[in-house]
Amino acid sequence: MFSRLLRNLSVERLACGALICITGVAAAGAAQAQSNEVGVYSGRHYNTDKQLYQQFTAKTGIAVKLLEAKDDALIERVRNEGQNSPADVLVLVDAARLDKAADLGLFRSSPSAALMRDVPLNLRDSKGRWFGLTRRVRVAIVNPALVNPASIRSYADLAQPALKGKLCLRDRKSVYNQSLVADQLILRGDAVAKGQCGVGLVNSYYVARLLSGDSGAADRALASRLKVVFPDPAHVNISGAGVLKTARNPSAALKLIEFLASPTGGRGYAEANHEYPLKGYGDNPVLKRLGSFKADGVSAEQMGAKNQAAVRLMEANGWQ
Ligand SMILES: [Fe+2]
Repeated sequence: MFSRLLRNLSVERLACGALICITGVAAAGAAQAQSNEVGVYSGRHYNTDKQLYQQFTAKTGIAVKLLEAKDDALIERVRNEGQNSPADVLVLVDAARLDKAADLGLFRSSPSAALMRDVPLNLRDSKGRWFGLTRRVRVAIVNPALVNPASIRSYADLAQPALKGKLCLRDRKSVYNQSLVADQLILRGDAVAKGQCGVGLVNSYYVARLLSGDSGAADRALASRLKVVFPDPAHVNISGAGVLKTARNPSAALKLIEFLASPTGGRGYAEANHEYPLKGYGDNPVLKRLGSFKADGVSAEQMGAKNQAAVRLMEANGWQ
């Protein structure tokens, strides 16, 4: 039963791996003035985002032309397109990817009083090149029939000998796990566990999505047999965005990011996908049922900077 559940939770892998291309959330006629259109490349793979882009269009009159694809593919695409890119905004999931895009020189600095106010310091780039928009927590999901949920209080507890053969983790290429290891390196200077399933690690929105019933009643029933544990303190990651250096319409791009980071826009962006807003816990009833967490305080920028060291550590410890 639990292996079936974990297979279901490999929605994390499937959803993240899927290449979805959607163009033209709002129809943007060629005749339209350029100032009325913003091109968005997004690595977020959640259908619910489109509602927020539509709200932005209704509020500002600026049409959003959207292309969704895998984060790394989008980074490559922006690099290849250069000045010819129709994109103004690049939305990516995971701090390490945002940091990588900034290192590649893809983003421009966006001085914005609204973003300074709405995005906490630890959830944005210190040079103003990218800004967090939503938060997700790396949680442990436990099968209480196999593992005592109370035995897992921290990520380090996943290394306890009693869990040998019962722990399921995604492979080394998962940027979510790389960021978790980077996070633990910063906090502990030490590795986390590897291994084979009584416990798995997933981003909070995947399990919340199953519990919400969005993926069907059968998945909800399976997920409800799990215990979700927030390690204390918890590793918090982000999705975020920046204005591209090659943007043709940087002012509309900044307006969109400001809208998505604002308390109103940001709440919708996070809630629909069962993520946490930039501040507080939000009003999503499924997330409320999971309880609250204490963020470990490691900044998104720190995690990005430690990504390479994390990958080396994972390699050195045989994390496949
Ligand atoms: Fe994801």
